[in-house]
Amino acid sequence: SLVSMKEMMIKGKKEGYAIGQFNLNNLEYTQAILQAAEEEKSPVILGVSEGAARYMGGFTTVVNMVKGLMHDFGTTVPVAIHLDHGSSFEKCKEAIDAGFSSVMIDASSKPLEENIEITKKVVEYAHAHGVSVEAELGVVGGQEDDVIADKVIYADPAECKVLVEQTNIDCLAPALGSVHGPYKGEPNLGFEEMEIISSQSDLPLVLHGGTGIPLKDIQRAISLGTAKINVNTENQIEGTKAVRQVLAEDTEVYDPRKYLAPMREAIKATVIGKMREFGSSQKA
Ligand code: G3H
Ligand code: ZN
Repeated sequence: SLVSMKEMMIKGKKEGYAIGQFNLNNLEYTQAILQAAEEEKSPVILGVSEGAARYMGGFTTVVNMVKGLMHDFGTTVPVAIHLDHGSSFEKCKEAIDAGFSSVMIDASSKPLEENIEITKKVVEYAHAHGVSVEAELGVVGGQEDDVIADKVIYADPAECKVLVEQTNIDCLAPALGSVHGPYKGEPNLGFEEMEIISSQSDLPLVLHGGTGIPLKDIQRAISLGTAKINVNTENQIEGTKAVRQVLAEDTEVYDPRKYLAPMREAIKATVIGKMREFGSSQKA
């Protein structure tokens, strides 16, 4: 069923596992992720960046595609459709009005006061519609669509405390060394800050840039209150690898289903692997 992220994250934090946010890029991604979740009996968060929504047609297209698949697949596990890195109150409102069950307002590039002000406004509108809200502080490195950073900035625990106290958000994404896209070398996550931030409230934490984080770091983050982990690049890499293989082996192929079905299978397998690592399998 289509739900907000609130309940699934509270349960995850309490029981010591994280729910994966897997980003949608097209129909096959959506099929793969929903099938993986159902097979694993795992709650799941479908992440949709503004860029990906644009690519697919718009927020309404995404909502109807997800609802259509859930209906046709007979999906029983909890599913959230979440706006990833929402850039403004207007974009969050647009997503909510189109039927998204969750939004992230990413005003992390703004000064704290302004971030708080925008986040508050989003929370007010979202909660009135039963929609959960994620906010961010600090700077996630790398690039994801319109979200580009040339340097990583670790979130300040004192600022996190103020933001959490003043906004009534449902979860917080403190950037603590994570990167969108592949890491250059091993990630250097700020676990000390994570522990402080986590101890300041009951709020579930979110880890962005889930691609390439070693299992030991995933487990440590979960033990420190992380209840949501975002993954996009790894599915893109594995999916594209499968397409390349088909095209390389058969230069005559032209039916897109002949190479997109293997892509879908590769994404599904990757998502299943993540759900097991995050501990969300059999938790729906
Ligand atoms: O918001 C989306 C995620 O943070 C994805 O990061 O592409 O590095 O897995 P990733
Ligand atoms: Zn992100």
